[in-house]
Amino acid sequence: MDITGKQDEWLQAIAAASDGPAVAELEARLFGQKGEVLEMVRSVTSLPREERPAFGKAANGVKLTVDKALAARKDGFAQIELNKELNATDFDPTEPGPRARTGAMHPITIVQNELVDLFTSMGFQWEDGPEIESEYFNFDALNIPGDHPARESQDTFLLSDGNLLRTHTSPVQVRTLQRLVKQGFEPPLKVIVPGRCFRSETVDKTHEHSFYQMEGLVVDRVQKGENGATGISTANLIHTMKTCLRVILERDVEVRLRPGFFPFVEPGFELDVNCPFCSGKGCSVCKQSGWIEILPCGMVHPNVLKEGGLDPEEYTGFAFGMGLQRVVMLRYGIDDIRHFMGGNLRFLSQFPEVPR
Ligand code: PHE
Repeated sequence: MDITGKQDEWLQAIAAASDGPAVAELEARLFGQKGEVLEMVRSVTSLPREERPAFGKAANGVKLTVDKALAARKDGFAQIELNKELNATDFDPTEPGPRARTGAMHPITIVQNELVDLFTSMGFQWEDGPEIESEYFNFDALNIPGDHPARESQDTFLLSDGNLLRTHTSPVQVRTLQRLVKQGFEPPLKVIVPGRCFRSETVDKTHEHSFYQMEGLVVDRVQKGENGATGISTANLIHTMKTCLRVILERDVEVRLRPGFFPFVEPGFELDVNCPFCSGKGCSVCKQSGWIEILPCGMVHPNVLKEGGLDPEEYTGFAFGMGLQRVVMLRYGIDDIRHFMGGNLRFLSQFPEVPR
């Protein structure tokens, strides 16, 4: 058999096939059951023994060549079909695809992370406490008497088992003191407690039922020397708060203290910062006063130290309770607290994370 002649014939037939169906038909003719190419390969058995190796080798070569040519022709027509389809749908394969959407940090998380970094760099340690809290830690241990208005059910989410959703991060002050004192730990002590708190509030532009605070607590032993006693004082509090606000608001800040009442601090303060929007000149955000109330703070009440297991004659300290939403709103100029939990991705994806 002239297998080279056969090969030429088949290759020509493949080249002549004018469309996909023609190629399919040809494939059946050459490689189907009783296909011409396969029959040719099988015909080796009818040859005398000594001719078989040479023929077998040549036949296999032809089979491979024809098979390859057929596959290439088939691919060619498939590609043409695909292009037709693509053109029909105006699909432009050179157009860049949709950009993959990556997640973004929540602005509260961004600011909380920055604050945690800052305070840990100043030697503070991070403490955590439960969101479901006992009445004892949330109120009694913090010198909040049973008839204090903060206890009324309109402010506090009470649970049926007698516990409650913590209304602030301050309970972790006493939890931390008690634990460390029990472990024999001696102040100085510097802790921060970032965490979620809950109040039964009517939600509006400036109030949310769930919000984030960061508590700070610093306690140290009073040093008694020739020139009197020194310990943690309001000066330490002011310095710490100024440092913190300068970093978070990314500018130099002025602060001032006004008296504020919280049963667990004495004296208690409201700390104001000069308005970032008008640099203290007076604008609508600061209601023309030049100051913005930023956080409550004060010197730890002796009863709280006592409850924590420390002698208030020997130790003093300061505490603050920063409302994180408030700081985030000031930092980014956000005017409605409801954005934070509104779940609107257009709002949430705008906050670039500062590389840490
Ligand atoms: N826990 C107080 C609140 O949420 C804030 C505060 C903390 C005040 C620490 C003084 C000292 O209202």
